[in-house]
Amino acid sequence: MELEHVLVVGAGQMGAGIAQVVAASGRRVSLYDAAPGAVDRGLESIRRSLEKLAEKGGADPDEVLARIDPVGDLVPAELMIEAVVEDAAVKEDLFRRADGILAAEAILASNTSSIPITSLAAATRRPARVIGMHFFNPVPVLKLVEVIRGLDTSDETAAAIVDDGRGTMCSVPARVPPGTSATVVSPAAAPSAPSSLFACPTESRLSLFGSRIVALSVTSSE
Ligand SMILES: NC(=O)c1ccc[n+]([C@@H]2O[C@H](COP(=O)([O-])OP(=O)(O)OC[C@H]3O[C@@H](n4cnc5c(N)ncnc54)[C@H](O)[C@@H]3O)[C@@H](O)[C@H]2O)c1
Repeated sequence: MELEHVLVVGAGQMGAGIAQVVAASGRRVSLYDAAPGAVDRGLESIRRSLEKLAEKGGADPDEVLARIDPVGDLVPAELMIEAVVEDAAVKEDLFRRADGILAAEAILASNTSSIPITSLAAATRRPARVIGMHFFNPVPVLKLVEVIRGLDTSDETAAAIVDDGRGTMCSVPARVPPGTSATVVSPAAAPSAPSSLFACPTESRLSLFGSRIVALSVTSSE
């Protein structure tokens, strides 16, 4: 599945960082925030971050910023990454609206820290295509994303987000191997399903960002 166009919703601390790393990976980003001026502030913080990284040999800030389009509402994309306030009702409403705007085959991801992915998926007609992508702050610096499967998240959806280098999903429950990102577990997964933690080998990658290590976990329906 190609994920060349990504809609990032929320241009705050996390959303701006996510838009930055997605654009830096060569993808086109549409950036939306409901608060007036928030996208402009997000773009400013992205520029500052890119300029710092450029001093250390990072990408040309103008080239990365040229791939980020501010948008005034949700727009169709192949992947949405939601990073709005940590409020279940706000996120559920957003997922309901996104379900009506993004194509049925698009993937809807949430950066939630604590809200079960299964309950966000229940607000849509595509629970198999809803997944958690839990980034860490500051996103451009911490090369770590926890991928959280809801109860209904399909293997196909998870495989589109995670590439373990062999083109297959890590599907064997394993103890957390030393040196992997799975030493960091989101509250979204840990209290409800500790025995269901899935850990990939260190070679695992987020297909979206090439160099990012991934921990896989699942949420319960509670
Ligand atoms: N800050 C962290 O360290 C961190 C780390 C991991 C995950 N998270 C999660 O990331 C999410 C965002 O956190 P943050 O720190 O970036 O928050 P933030 O307050 O910096 O940004 C949230 C943004 O969402 C916007 N927003 C609110 N409702 C909206 C709506 N309906 N549609 C569009 N935009 C809307 C706000 O205007 C704001 O700009 C939360 O779910 C949080 O739990 C945060």
